[in-house]
Amino acid sequence: MDIKNIMVIGSGLMGSGIAQVSAQAGYNVIMNDVKMEFIDKGFNSISSILDGRVKKEKITVADKDSILARISKSPDFEEAKKADLIIEAAFENFEVKKSIFQKLDSLCRKDVIFATNTSSIPITSLATTVQRSEKFIGMHFFSPVPVMRLVEIIPGFKTAEETTKIIETVAAKLKKETVRVKDVPGFLVNRVNAAFRAEVYNCLLEGVATIEDIDKAIKLGLNHPMGPFELGDFVGLEIGLNVFRTLYEGYKDPKFRPALILEKLVQSGDLGRKTGKGWYDYTSGEMKPRKDVNF
Ligand SMILES: NC(=O)c1ccc[n+]([C@@H]2O[C@H](COP(=O)([O-])OP(=O)(O)OC[C@H]3O[C@@H](n4cnc5c(N)ncnc54)[C@H](O)[C@@H]3O)[C@@H](O)[C@H]2O)c1
Repeated sequence: MDIKNIMVIGSGLMGSGIAQVSAQAGYNVIMNDVKMEFIDKGFNSISSILDGRVKKEKITVADKDSILARISKSPDFEEAKKADLIIEAAFENFEVKKSIFQKLDSLCRKDVIFATNTSSIPITSLATTVQRSEKFIGMHFFSPVPVMRLVEIIPGFKTAEETTKIIETVAAKLKKETVRVKDVPGFLVNRVNAAFRAEVYNCLLEGVATIEDIDKAIKLGLNHPMGPFELGDFVGLEIGLNVFRTLYEGYKDPKFRPALILEKLVQSGDLGRKTGKGWYDYTSGEMKPRKDVNF
């Protein structure tokens, strides 16, 4: 099947990144969200990222203009009639995604593939919401989408091999590397990363080292671009906590039990960079150790 038009549902952090890399790859993209202002916000963030690339002379102004010209914006699901592929990146909530896929199922041609960027909802259960489970698949991007090279490809229980191959081809055109992963809780990367982070929290709670020194050690000793606490604040602590909850529920393995200290932070409303405080304090405009809590 020749895919030319991709509709991206949800124009937030992930959806706008997916729209950007799709347009860069030459696809026509329809950006969708519940309100035009949310689509505009996503579109403007793409435009300013491209401005940065023009400034660095990675692309020309003409490249930028042609990438943006390939993107159309509409909060109307009827636009899905033009799509050859749907990539859904709306809220991480089963009911929200179910309602989106049910509407699209009745609008889209029967050969259109539905891909979801869910981080934690089983692909197989989302596939039951539509009449095309053989054309339903997980396409798990990483943030920030234009930078991170991996996409986990997650066939559900009934996904056809042809669907998986088409999506692997699309991902390659987006200049992403892919791995095929079984439809298990946390898929692969989040599962392994959670086990690593659980050990990081154990070290903190045992007083093995401070937050700053653990971050420094992991960056310099394991060559990670960011330390685990810094990264947790960057992504959002409630997102990290959600991953632990999914894994603990899915595997019943105590190593995935959410750390109480992480629960406390989220309960207190300190979710990382976006709220000004998380593992670190960002209220001065710089990343500083917190002085107002006892870790
Ligand atoms: N943030 C990450 O690092 C990350 C990484 C991988 C996967 N994901 C997954 O990607 C998805 C999106 O995450 P995000 O971080 O971009 O969230 P986000 O909150 O930035 O964006 C979600 C967008 O979806 C829109 N939306 C909600 N309901 C909708 C509907 N019915 N129709 C159309 N649009 C709707 C919202 O208005 C919002 O703009 C989630 O499933 C999340 O689990 C996130």
